[in-house]
Amino acid sequence: MTSLGAGNFVYSHHMVPMSLRAVILAAGQGSRLRSSTPKVLHALAGRTILSYVVDTAREVSTEQPLVVVHLSHAEVREHVQSLGGIPVLQQESRGTGDAVRSVPEEFWKADTFVILSGDTPLVTAATVRMMIEQHERTGDAATVATFRLRGKNTYGRIEHDDATGAVCGIREARDRGEETGNDEFEYNAGLYCFATGPLKQALKKLTPDNAQGEYYLSDVIGLLVPEGVGTYVLDDAEELAGINDHKDFARVEHAMRRRIADRLMEKGVHITDPATTYCDWEVDIEPGTTIQPGCVLRGRTKIGRDCMIGPYAQLRDMTVGDGCTVGSSTLEESTLGAFVTIGQYCRVRAGCTIGNHVYLGTAAEVKNAEIGERSFISHFSCVLDARVGSNVNVGAGTVTCNFDGISKHRTIMGDGAFIGSDSILVAPCVIGKHAYVGAGSVITHDVPDDALAVERNQQQNVEGWALRHRAHMSIQETGASPTTPPLEPSS
Ligand code: UD1
Ligand code: CA
Repeated sequence: MTSLGAGNFVYSHHMVPMSLRAVILAAGQGSRLRSSTPKVLHALAGRTILSYVVDTAREVSTEQPLVVVHLSHAEVREHVQSLGGIPVLQQESRGTGDAVRSVPEEFWKADTFVILSGDTPLVTAATVRMMIEQHERTGDAATVATFRLRGKNTYGRIEHDDATGAVCGIREARDRGEETGNDEFEYNAGLYCFATGPLKQALKKLTPDNAQGEYYLSDVIGLLVPEGVGTYVLDDAEELAGINDHKDFARVEHAMRRRIADRLMEKGVHITDPATTYCDWEVDIEPGTTIQPGCVLRGRTKIGRDCMIGPYAQLRDMTVGDGCTVGSSTLEESTLGAFVTIGQYCRVRAGCTIGNHVYLGTAAEVKNAEIGERSFISHFSCVLDARVGSNVNVGAGTVTCNFDGISKHRTIMGDGAFIGSDSILVAPCVIGKHAYVGAGSVITHDVPDDALAVERNQQQNVEGWALRHRAHMSIQETGASPTTPPLEPSS
């Protein structure tokens, strides 16, 4: 027995697997955010605060996680279902203890209850698992995750017996009175493991006998002391930081962003400055790509290998192929092939499919357009609702007039077409393959393949006009100022 060591007891314990149910508390009003949207639905790096906690709960238990939702929060209830959780309703926000009490009878069969807060999105499955492991090893009735902190805060403080140092309960900030000093104390992280039977009994004994008049789940810890209470002390308090006000929110968002950037950098992406790079959770980037400062990559943006993005590029729900270069432009809901170059100040709006080696110059705008390989859309062009073939040259300042005031129409440019600068293509309009459009033309009729379309007035040159003009101007000038203008007064 002695040669096995304590660790092996854990192993033998797992021979009889304990059933485990995760419960996420998310029925609070989130009043400190002063928002009409329920707190857990707020977006953090592109998904809801709650979604992160549900993911963690799903990782630690094979059972569907329960999420306690306020009766009036129908949108939270629907969201929980979409995340694969089971919503259970709390009638009124009467405290975290009341929230756990709202779990219907049918779900109390598991051996262990793990309680998580819907407002602590940074919590990882690894941490929850380690707490569960300790809980099962010690056989305590309750295990509460804690961290040590200095200075004033709003967490529940763990109270210890002066003589033995054993945990004797939790005292909430509002019940502690005015605090001074900067001593370090141990605080409740809001993450717990309970043996189901003892938890159920203790919940019945809760009273709303406190500053907030609520049933505190944290009071259960004091009630379970006779049956065994342990703390699982976290070295890193950040992971269980709760979002209560907007200052917490910004801090948690910062930590989440850093975590996403770390994941991408570990994968082989070069991020010049993670502090000014904003990537949503679902963003994925292949190795060898560089993200320069100030980029905002949102939604399901996927970027291939060896791209150069930014500085100051904004991409949302984009798919970008290998070897692309994107300047400080805004791109959304579109697909770029390989080796595409997007210059500065361009806007790629929804619905574009841009082929390999396409080049967009400065300040080009494209929308709902298919653009074939090796085509050029030059500076200040506006290509909307169009199908552009391959090897097409769209000269600077070209505009597809897609809207007649009632409906939108498409412009088609065949392979190899050459559109001179400042052309106006009034849709619906087809420019044939290898056709030319003379610069400055307003095209209102289709242009056949291999044709040249020019629509502009005959140029007139008036010989000697400039000489006569300059002579006229100098007479005018001397006539208009007969006296020398006064000097400016010096100061
Ligand atoms: C709670 C703990 C505190 C701990 C902190 C950790 C209590 C009384 N206090 O305080 O000891 O240090 O978390 O983050 O438990 N909720 C409900 N129904 C309710 C009230 C709250 O579902 O009636 C949910 C909230 O939506 C939230 C979670 O429970 O997700 C915690 O509630 P919150 O009001 O944020 O408690 P804290 O003040 O943070
Ligand atoms: Ca909280």
